[in-house]
Amino acid sequence: MRVEPYEKVWIALSLLMLLGFLGAISVSVFVHGISLPGAEQRIDPKTVVNEPPFATPGIRETGPGEYEVYLLSMVWSFVPNEIRVPAGARVTFHATSRDVTHGFTIHGTNLNLMLIPGLVATGTATFDKPGEYLFICHEYCGLAHQTMAGKVIVEEKS
Ligand code: CUA
Repeated sequence: MRVEPYEKVWIALSLLMLLGFLGAISVSVFVHGISLPGAEQRIDPKTVVNEPPFATPGIRETGPGEYEVYLLSMVWSFVPNEIRVPAGARVTFHATSRDVTHGFTIHGTNLNLMLIPGLVATGTATFDKPGEYLFICHEYCGLAHQTMAGKVIVEEKS
């Protein structure tokens, strides 16, 4: 079979691209440890409100300047929708949805999560500057989607 030299170049380029993509996936999985949520992060959206830790959503202090927030989302609100921390706090959010897919992003930080029913999303943000940080749902979830918001209030250290 005769393959045109021009075609050979395209075949080589395609193979190079595939190898490049495979390399990128390997680096993200094996070097950066990025993976899909594991089974330990699954919950039942129907019973999540009755079972710990999401039965008592809110903030807990886990160490000096370290906090954990369990956050529930539902049409069209977040619980809690007001979170107070002192400046410098490092906050790890564990969030999920009771009903449909919502989003969770905090302005002024790079935290941006998808809240999918059945899965717990986790992300950490550090709040160095005092002030109010608005968080919103950024995934269209129905009629009152645009009202779904809350804030992190970062207070001066006393
Ligand atoms: Cu929840 Cu949009």
